[in-house]
Amino acid sequence: MTAPIKNSNPVIVDVALGDRAYDIVIGRDALGSLGERVKKLRPNARVAIVTDKTVAQHWLTKTEAALTQAGIESACIIVGEGEASKSYAVLQDVCEGLIAAKIERNDLVIALGGGVVGDLAGFAASIVRRGVDFVQVPTSLLAQVDSSVGGKTGINSPHGKNLIGAFHQPVLVIADTSVLDTLSPRQFRAGYAEVAKYGVLGDEAFFAWLEANHAEIFSGGAAREHAIATSCRAKAAIVARDERETGERALLNLGHTFGHALEAATGFSDRLFHGEGVSVGMVLAAEFSAHLKMIAPSEAERVQRHLAAVGLPTRLQDIAGFQQEGLGDADALMTLMAQDKKVKRGRLTFILLEKIGKAVIANDVDAPTVRNFIAEKLAHKPGR
Ligand code: GLY
Repeated sequence: MTAPIKNSNPVIVDVALGDRAYDIVIGRDALGSLGERVKKLRPNARVAIVTDKTVAQHWLTKTEAALTQAGIESACIIVGEGEASKSYAVLQDVCEGLIAAKIERNDLVIALGGGVVGDLAGFAASIVRRGVDFVQVPTSLLAQVDSSVGGKTGINSPHGKNLIGAFHQPVLVIADTSVLDTLSPRQFRAGYAEVAKYGVLGDEAFFAWLEANHAEIFSGGAAREHAIATSCRAKAAIVARDERETGERALLNLGHTFGHALEAATGFSDRLFHGEGVSVGMVLAAEFSAHLKMIAPSEAERVQRHLAAVGLPTRLQDIAGFQQEGLGDADALMTLMAQDKKVKRGRLTFILLEKIGKAVIANDVDAPTVRNFIAEKLAHKPGR
């Protein structure tokens, strides 16, 4: 029998990047060990926490207490919530805040929050004084299994998402699974899409395990730690082999070519969370793989069935305001996909499936074939 994971016994996943290697510490109450771990990593460092208003209400006191217990005083910079904070203006506020807090080369920035805070604080850390180290303390499931690991940091440009940024690896990630208890069910589900993604793209046995154990992941049992640790191990292995996304790291974009177009069509609003876009996008990628006869339709149905079983949107028609401009129109969706970073000279790049557990990069996909496939999906009537 597997021993239950105790607070004193977190799972440690190593991100093997040579002299920039770091640990991901995963467990209930792992946040309590932050101060001791920071002290060991950087004795005498100054520390500044960057967080957002909601996360501050829930977790700032506990984070500060964990640092104080280890004799570490910290400054704090609180930004507004949501994607709007990944802007030049807020980046400037964070950089100025770090300089005012006298954060220097050997000091540390702590990103306490979801993907927005991690991307923003990590990017600020990468440029203040030409680069200071930072620690990720992800507080959403999506951030714990994806954005806090691998060093992608950045902000949005008026031209598109994440167009200004840097690869800047954290020196430590603390994924306290108990902080996920305060997420709304919808936010948790959206993060779960990224967990399922690791099974679909590279690990059929993990996907089958998720099919059998998803209820315990949502209720907060030991399965939650296992799912997060397995996801982090999968990502860490890919990042260690292809840090700068010159090849295999692109597999992590499964569901994202379709998903980003859907997020753009819904104005990056609450109508569709990123993870929800990935869920619909992943099903479309699986169905498109079946359309191209790379997998059997039953494999795509299996992906759809599992994501629908946890309550995620899986069809274009599931998206709020589906009939509004852009979403019901194959040409509008094609235009949005053509703006994606993953387009090269009019040919689209998709991550497609050879089977559940084996994704491949297809970087020469013919646009009319995609358009016909989308038009077919748009004609699909819910319930059919
Ligand atoms: N979220 C995809 C990556 O980190 O490469």
